[in-house]
Amino acid sequence: MAVDLLLGLQWGDEGKGKIVDVLTANYDIIARFQGGPNAGHTLEFDGIKHVLRTIPSGIFHKTSTNVIGNGVVIDPVVFIKELEGLDQFKIDYKKTLIVSRKAHVILPTHRLLDAASEASKGKAKIGSTLKGIGPTYMDKTGRNGIRIGDLELPNWKEKYRSLANKHEAMIKFYNVDVQYDLEEMEVEFFEAVERLKELQFIDSEEYINSSIKAGKTVLAEGAQGSLLDIDFGTYPFVTSSNTTAAGACTGLGVAPNRIKEVYGIFKAYTTRVGSGPFPTELFDKVGNDMAIIGNEVGAVTGRPRRCGWLDLVALKYAVDVNGVTQLMMMKADVLSGFETIKVATKYLYKGEEISHLPYNIEPENVTPVYQEFKGWSQDLTKMSTEDELPKEVQDYIAFLEKELDTPIKVVSVGPDRKQTIFR
Ligand code: GDP
Ligand code: IMO
Ligand code: MG
Repeated sequence: MAVDLLLGLQWGDEGKGKIVDVLTANYDIIARFQGGPNAGHTLEFDGIKHVLRTIPSGIFHKTSTNVIGNGVVIDPVVFIKELEGLDQFKIDYKKTLIVSRKAHVILPTHRLLDAASEASKGKAKIGSTLKGIGPTYMDKTGRNGIRIGDLELPNWKEKYRSLANKHEAMIKFYNVDVQYDLEEMEVEFFEAVERLKELQFIDSEEYINSSIKAGKTVLAEGAQGSLLDIDFGTYPFVTSSNTTAAGACTGLGVAPNRIKEVYGIFKAYTTRVGSGPFPTELFDKVGNDMAIIGNEVGAVTGRPRRCGWLDLVALKYAVDVNGVTQLMMMKADVLSGFETIKVATKYLYKGEEISHLPYNIEPENVTPVYQEFKGWSQDLTKMSTEDELPKEVQDYIAFLEKELDTPIKVVSVGPDRKQTIFR
């Protein structure tokens, strides 16, 4: 009777989609618990690359049920496009994909509000994906939101109209240049809502809890990463949901004592897309090489991802906040060919060395203190067992395990399902 939980420990894009897909064979149910189409989870197998936004990454295994939990925000327009992308793969999603009635709906005006809010911030902008995530969660906590279950009510369009009118007034208030044709956006939106209604809407907390009692296994799939968490991330440069372990409890309705394994995923280095502090960021050729070799381009927005060395100070923090029981190190192959590998083990903060993540991690407040490791030149992408990994990789892994006091159970050496080494 347990739920296992998989989440990103950095600023997102750690490779969650790939690993959920790899692990799905062991689970009856895969459930997303927060975030929305700001996520882009990439899966690769049989030579095809898939990017999922709102749909859980178990969808390609025809035996599992995929749940979109109450903590998720859904944009019907993006969602329907995602479903259409699945059509060619003959996935019977009307059977295997179910949606919580308590999940909130992203309206076209939420997207516009996101754009207006970002434009009004100028240089201080968050670097949002502009998918309407922040405004939708604001309406949720402000108790004004429209939920999936509302779409089944005859008068939901009245509620929609009054909320959209309010949003239009708010957009005017921002007094920035946001061009739009709401009527056109609404045609697309209402059509998408009708198609969305062909899916099963359920009381997902009841479904998940009764499934657990019946002995079914559940994997909760996180979106974004721990440093983008609304409470524990690099606020205000964060997303608007709890991306950390607690978010799985509130985003699915599972109690903390039901959670067993917490799989924490991290890249062998660090990336970030959007604005905000990033202590180990590299602005030199090394960072540039990482971006090129790692193909570090955002799956949703196509923006280049900022790259830097692994930050153990931040990683330890994420391991603690989430109660990680097993680590998974992704993209180890990308580090092949670098003469020296660096890891930040401490920060210099107000003239002192510290090893915890302080309140302010802007460049003027912290300077990373690095430990250096000898690099390796072998190509890891065709390796399939731990024994094949070069000694330098093994040393790197052993060091991280010791520092983080948590075992690294998976080393990923390429984007494909098969490029996964279990230890
Ligand atoms: P997610 O948001 O955490 O699911 O991660 P993304 O899909 O946004 O970004 C991860 C990217 O790295 C995708 O393009 C994956 O195909 C790719 N990827 C995942 N694991 C590996 C790996 O071990 N090596 C390499 N080279 N690429 C990987
Ligand atoms: P996955 O699930 C990486 C970032 C955005 C921005 C900030 C706020 O693929 O790992 P938002 O759209 O939520 O208002 O953006 O968060 N961000 C992500 N970065 N991966 C993601 O998701 C992200 N989702 C949001 O770039 O800096
Ligand atoms: Mg992603």
